[in-house]
Amino acid sequence: MKVLIVGGGGREHALANALARSPQSPELLAAPGNPGIAAVARCFPEIGVGDLDALVELAVAEGVGLVVIGPEAPLVAGLADRLEQAGIAHFGPTAAAAQLEGSKAFAKEIMSSAGVPTADWAEVETVEAGMEAIDGRYPAVIKFDGLAAGKGVVVAPDEATAREALTEMLEARRFGDGPVVVEDFLDGEELSLFAICDGERAVPMVPAQDYKRIFDGDEGPNTGGMGAYSPVVGAPDVDAVVAAIHQPVVDLLRERGTPFHGVLYAGLMLTDDGPQVIEFNVRFGDPETQGVLLRLTSDLLDTLVAATRPGGLAAADPMSFSDDWAVTVVLASAGYPESSSNGDVISGLDALSSDVEVTHAGTALSESGAVVTAGGRVLNVTALGAGPADARERAYAAADLIQFDGRQLRRDIAQRAVERVTS
Ligand code: AMP
Ligand code: GLY
Repeated sequence: MKVLIVGGGGREHALANALARSPQSPELLAAPGNPGIAAVARCFPEIGVGDLDALVELAVAEGVGLVVIGPEAPLVAGLADRLEQAGIAHFGPTAAAAQLEGSKAFAKEIMSSAGVPTADWAEVETVEAGMEAIDGRYPAVIKFDGLAAGKGVVVAPDEATAREALTEMLEARRFGDGPVVVEDFLDGEELSLFAICDGERAVPMVPAQDYKRIFDGDEGPNTGGMGAYSPVVGAPDVDAVVAAIHQPVVDLLRERGTPFHGVLYAGLMLTDDGPQVIEFNVRFGDPETQGVLLRLTSDLLDTLVAATRPGGLAAADPMSFSDDWAVTVVLASAGYPESSSNGDVISGLDALSSDVEVTHAGTALSESGAVVTAGGRVLNVTALGAGPADARERAYAAADLIQFDGRQLRRDIAQRAVERVTS
């Protein structure tokens, strides 16, 4: 079977590698792909993730049996609907179901209706209404309703910051038109839990923890994610979490006639009152996916195909995961996250041993054929180990072989897990 992967980041490289391990030996295509993905898939660098016409045309022309949609933007823009009309099986929700990520207010309304635990919230359209909703409770959380490339959330410690954030979003229209969601601050540790959904049932993968800040000790601005590990010490039972959080959402969307097929990613806060949803995403998390998929021991292709059919997971082999730990370290370019640096030559990729997986997130080939930086997050190094210390040591040993000007990495990924397992 031909499988087309839509996207060109580290998550899509990890998906491509996991699909390449399938015993069904699918023929892999990727649009646009990247220089790392090119090792396992035929890439179409001229087709971007926003070019829905070209993506559908490619899938039809190649007789693709499954399209796996990596990023949120084409999902929210309706790529799944377009593929549905063209009669091509696809992994990823329709535009209607993708509103869970595309609109914070929609997601909140679904959670309230489905009885899913989340912070108390209000949707507001003016700065004054926002200040009234906050009502003096700080820190306050202010979120632009639509997609904002991870930059649309402000945790405001005081009134001045809250007013500034509301003004930027609602008057200066920094992210475009759209309302704002104001919600209560949730205290605790974050957890990412993906569930594969077939329109009727949500089936959990293994939990992971992501490091969102740029600097060690969770300092500095938010990023797309600087590292991750899996499993997570002290995480609640995944079946219980899915029963309380993912399944009620899948049930409600099905009742409303917009069933959810794809991966439902719950970003959770583990509070003293139990897990609460910070946000839903309608695609795999990046970089958590890199480790989760390395731990997957069953056939990913089988699961993704099953999820495209209503109730299809019931008849499929269940997913299985190794007991190994996975640790992922992200190497970012100079200036990230405010900016990024392109064209810095990357060395050391040839020296890596086969027991680590290096996925390309933002790389390109220079005219002379050298691999160079081409984005904020450049490479992800994932290693497995019998414990977190093992996996961490391997990941950092490999990461340190890779060099480029201005390279940034966090040194404390999974340190917390090592301390907890030892104590
Ligand atoms: P989001 O894009 O919704 O995941 O928000 C980005 C980050 O902001 C999250 O990963 C959290 O660290 C933080 N955040 C969002 N909502 C809340 C909340 N209600 N309470 C505390 N932190 C939050
Ligand atoms: N790792 C965070 C995200 O994918 O949104």
